[in-house]
Amino acid sequence: MNKGEDRFKKIIAHCKEYGFIFPSSEIYDGLSAVYDYGQNGAELKNNIKDYWWKSMVQYHDNIVGLDSAIFMHPTVWKASGHVDAFNDPLIDNKDSKKRYRADVLIEDHIAKLEEKINKEVQKAAKRFGDTFDEKMFRETNPRVQANLQKILDINARFVPAMENGHLDDLKALIDELEISCPVSGSRNWTDVRQFNLMFSSQMGSASDGASLVYLRPETAQGIFVNYLNVQKTGRKKLPFGIAQIGKAFRNEIVARQFIFRMREFEQMEMQYFIKPGLEKEWFEYWKEERMRWHLALGIPGEMFRIHDHDKLAHYANAAVDIEFEFPFGFKEIEGIHSRTDFDLGAHQKFSGKKLQYFDPDSNESYTPYVVETSIGLDRMFLAVVSFAFTEEKLEDGSERVVMNIPPALAPVKIAVLPLVKKDGLPEKGRELFDRLKYEFMCQYEDKDAIGRRYRRQDAIGTPYCITVDHQTLEDNTVTIRERDSMLQERIPAENVSKVVSSRISLRPA
Ligand code: GAP
Repeated sequence: MNKGEDRFKKIIAHCKEYGFIFPSSEIYDGLSAVYDYGQNGAELKNNIKDYWWKSMVQYHDNIVGLDSAIFMHPTVWKASGHVDAFNDPLIDNKDSKKRYRADVLIEDHIAKLEEKINKEVQKAAKRFGDTFDEKMFRETNPRVQANLQKILDINARFVPAMENGHLDDLKALIDELEISCPVSGSRNWTDVRQFNLMFSSQMGSASDGASLVYLRPETAQGIFVNYLNVQKTGRKKLPFGIAQIGKAFRNEIVARQFIFRMREFEQMEMQYFIKPGLEKEWFEYWKEERMRWHLALGIPGEMFRIHDHDKLAHYANAAVDIEFEFPFGFKEIEGIHSRTDFDLGAHQKFSGKKLQYFDPDSNESYTPYVVETSIGLDRMFLAVVSFAFTEEKLEDGSERVVMNIPPALAPVKIAVLPLVKKDGLPEKGRELFDRLKYEFMCQYEDKDAIGRRYRRQDAIGTPYCITVDHQTLEDNTVTIRERDSMLQERIPAENVSKVVSSRISLRPA
């Protein structure tokens, strides 16, 4: 097992042990790629939602919120292209009976070639030290060049095959690249077939003519079909945005890596309606703005990178992913897409209703263009816990596991801990807890030795522990212990709220 896999296993185990995430229906042996959020997970998830919602809706005076239904008229999904084009190409290995996404097998093959190039570069950087010119090395080293050429050759066939749905070409690539099944090791593959990712059900009883409904695969369509409702009732002028947080469902072919790829998940999406022609500008703006949002949490910039899409979704004319360095490598956490008037245009066509904007400045009507930001709430959650999980060896030789969750997102902000469970300290602690609970998510704990209680709070990422001791009874001061440094200071009990508020705030200085 490599270091990343080992770390990932520990994170999954920690999430379960400390009430962040449980497998769904666990007593029935779970349900594949569906998870439940426990007592601490629900808090962390709510805090991420709150941070996103405030950044979008509260801090932008031209963005408003929406909460649309999961069920929508089935024609919505015809118009959006999801009925015809929301497919993944799947392939089965006849020996292991395992099912894969054909495009992912090819992408993994490309990633291995990229890895070879990176190793070559790292080796050379070590060898040449300060004099190393990476650009020149990449352009001239024969092994790097050979692998780069291989990637270019693969992409020259892979990208058009994906764009045009040429499944035979994908199969031919898998055969020619000699890609084998990671489980059986064999190259005994079926043909590649298209698989639609939408879940469907029937609405109404069969006797009254039930109709086909889909569980939405993205929240965005609820925003598009409400564009005019919000624009008119909110008297919005372009540019303006509509933001929404909600569940989405995809029948993923290969659902693995814990909460990274689930069949039921949550999205936080914002559609920014703009004048056609300005999409480049706004695309760049939202790319930068969204990176700023991530970095404001204090997660190091090296853990993020921007990846330009080689192949575009059926609705986009430009797209980037913000990728995060998960324990299993850099993967997409958020997408920023320039969707043109694809969706509003399609809904006008299919519904026969006008979805236009009358521009009072230019005296013309047009269909707005859209730039979308779309982040998976569960992926953001996984990014936060992956970053936060830390095993530390302390100076006294002991060890601790601490979740360095950005304080603003921590499930519990303050733990109130009487030093001992006697001498009136529990009563004093309760009094403090009862005051602080209206402002912060707090926990009161008086069982076990204080050191063990600190460790339990570290393990769930509580940024501040307040200890009530005998001196508190004399002068009403308490100690405040900071999670990461473990430093303690004495402050008046009445200052706790002010001190904690200022330290956990994400407000720009
Ligand atoms: N409305 C655009 C859209 O849905 P997407 O790239 O398919 O774009 C956006 O999805 C985000 O939703 C992704 O960046 C990812 O964070 C999240 N996401 C997509 N599929 C997911 C899944 N199966 N499980 C968890 N999160 C997922």
